[in-house]
Amino acid sequence: MTRPLIIAPSILAADFARLGDEVRAIDQGGAEWVHIDVMDGHFVPNITFGAPVMASIRPVTKRVFDVHLMISPADPYLEQFAKAGADVITVHAEAGPHLDRSLQTIRALGKRAGVSLNPATPASVLTHVLDRIDLILIMTVNPGFGGQAFIKAMLGKISEVRNMIEGRAIDIEVDGGITVETAPLVVKAGANVLVAGSAIFKGTDYGANIKAIRLAATSLTA
Ligand code: DX5
Ligand code: ZN
Repeated sequence: MTRPLIIAPSILAADFARLGDEVRAIDQGGAEWVHIDVMDGHFVPNITFGAPVMASIRPVTKRVFDVHLMISPADPYLEQFAKAGADVITVHAEAGPHLDRSLQTIRALGKRAGVSLNPATPASVLTHVLDRIDLILIMTVNPGFGGQAFIKAMLGKISEVRNMIEGRAIDIEVDGGITVETAPLVVKAGANVLVAGSAIFKGTDYGANIKAIRLAATSLTA
């Protein structure tokens, strides 16, 4: 079963002084989702923003808000992000001892539930929660910063996860170092949601950057 290709620009690479305009530009540029990187300076070595900033850009676009929580603990904040307009809420498997509970909470809030895996985390942690998952986010860099180099060893993990989900309606997302060069590799391995920060928020024509990644992603699989 092939799921539709989705391009999800990460606003981590946007100009925060003009965040509303930046979100509008990727919306008009054809991005399906908006990827929102929340970092706490504890789970990852960097701090970004929280639910109030996300709420401030919610009225700007109708696109899916794909919220990547790089925070620990995550559970106390899930409701806040749901109320601030998240559509997909992804927690890290490494962020707490009760992944199953976090996923149940996200679905009980009426949102799509995602699990993210750091590069060193094996796919096997997903085995017993597959029926609670709408999305699996495979980190292709160590989370914390934009502009890092893609870790090639993750291609094997993507294929493994792809086989693991069988016929389930689960999106496979990749995040970190996605460019026109790496997009075809991850799609070939089985990913269908591509997050990209620096490769999209560069120059002035974000729409062209989105189109280039989409084209690269589809060309090799055709
Ligand atoms: C990394 C973030 C990514 C990041 C990707 O911790 O989760 O979403 O913004 O940035 P690029 O595409 O520049 O690697
Ligand atoms: Zn992310």
